[in-house]
Amino acid sequence: MFKILRKRELAPDIYLFEVEAPRVAKTANPGQFVIVRAYDKGERIPLTIADYDKRTGSVTIVIQALGASTRVICSFEEGDSFVDFAGPLGQPSDFIHFDPDKINGKRFLFVAGGVGAAPIYPQLKYLKERGAVLDVIIGARSKELLILLDEIREKVDNLYVATNDGSFGYKGFVTCVLEELISKGNQYDQVIAIGPMVMMKSVAESTKKYSIPTIVSLNTLMIDGTGMCGACRVTVNGKIRFTCVDGPEFNAHEVDFDEAMLRLNMYRSEEQKRLVDIER
Ligand code: FES
Repeated sequence: MFKILRKRELAPDIYLFEVEAPRVAKTANPGQFVIVRAYDKGERIPLTIADYDKRTGSVTIVIQALGASTRVICSFEEGDSFVDFAGPLGQPSDFIHFDPDKINGKRFLFVAGGVGAAPIYPQLKYLKERGAVLDVIIGARSKELLILLDEIREKVDNLYVATNDGSFGYKGFVTCVLEELISKGNQYDQVIAIGPMVMMKSVAESTKKYSIPTIVSLNTLMIDGTGMCGACRVTVNGKIRFTCVDGPEFNAHEVDFDEAMLRLNMYRSEEQKRLVDIER
């Protein structure tokens, strides 16, 4: 059992959980994920790690109560325990294999949408400690859905915020800010985008025009998380890859986003039915 040490509401229906999971914390790296199961017959929910502390043995996740299972997870309170908290799974971010000289002074641009602001946090921490220059664009539908702004601001050189309705920061999409930064002459060694699939697709299209290497973290459907079931398959550079073992991070310019989005929406109607049943 994995005890919840801290629960914090970051925004309506978005919660941060700090979970006691020393074995996961010990080997976790930026970019990896865990699969959480709230109770015995619960669905397995993949969540990218939002922070970890190897000393205290805790791992942080951020989850949005969108579907039936995520609502159950979000109903758990401090002191409760999740039955499963498997990980760390997937490949760490590529930059953890870089020579420190390859990071020091390099300029990274992170683009995070919605709860995608959570998984960039351990990446920013890691790169900041090694002397990278970090610009971040965070986007959300409206001000109340922006999360972790203060924590992220502490770690970065420049923070830009965009909301679709203009209630905070730039009015519009993160890709408009990205285009503006590039058109003003900002040069980046790498862009990392994490957020809704449609946002990552549009970031990939923008950066491809300027030939900026770009990584995305794919939030596909997952079942076993071990490369056996095939649920998380995506096409990257014309080849079938499994997000859970080959990813979740891939070269954005090689991902078939249209296929990935179709697969992601495959069970939407079943999910809606389940939500209705739960609410009855
Ligand atoms: Fe089953 Fe990736 S979740 S193969």
